[in-house]
Amino acid sequence: MEELINTYQNIKELTEEEQKLIDSAKSACNNAYAPYSQFNVGAALLLDDGSIVIGSNQENAAYPSGLCAERVAIFSVMNNNPTAKIKKIAVTARKATSNGFIPAAPCGGCRQVMLEQEQKQNENIEVLFSHEDKWVRTSSIKQLLPFSFNKNSLK
Ligand code: THU
Repeated sequence: MEELINTYQNIKELTEEEQKLIDSAKSACNNAYAPYSQFNVGAALLLDDGSIVIGSNQENAAYPSGLCAERVAIFSVMNNNPTAKIKKIAVTARKATSNGFIPAAPCGGCRQVMLEQEQKQNENIEVLFSHEDKWVRTSSIKQLLPFSFNKNSLK
């Protein structure tokens, strides 16, 4: 399959299914527990059975013990539905004090966890997020994490 990174000026250029996934990610921001950063992140995963699983960042007074929204959602699927395949991931963010959404790309640690799942399921995962004034869709995680350390590195 061809690997593409597409950018869109307007969210309406994304498919309706993708806009719905982004709406789920935005709702997930409401579940964030982010008293330290006041930065709410929401992730929504579209699974191969059509269902949507959400995650939000969960912080901790011992800062490194917290977890990003994307990993909360991905680990939840890997645990509760280990044979499920993730088709798409949408990531959104807003300040805790505002209803307006702001651009946020997945962090490096989450890209690493996404890559593990992509290799495990042997099917690409698309990622949707906003960056500066555009929406971005990558057709795989590999594009977000080139030259990666992965399971083949351990052989
Ligand atoms: N955060 C995420 O949930 N996902 C990311 O990809 C980037 C950062 C969270 C972690 C922390 O709770 C807050 O955003 C500020 O870094």
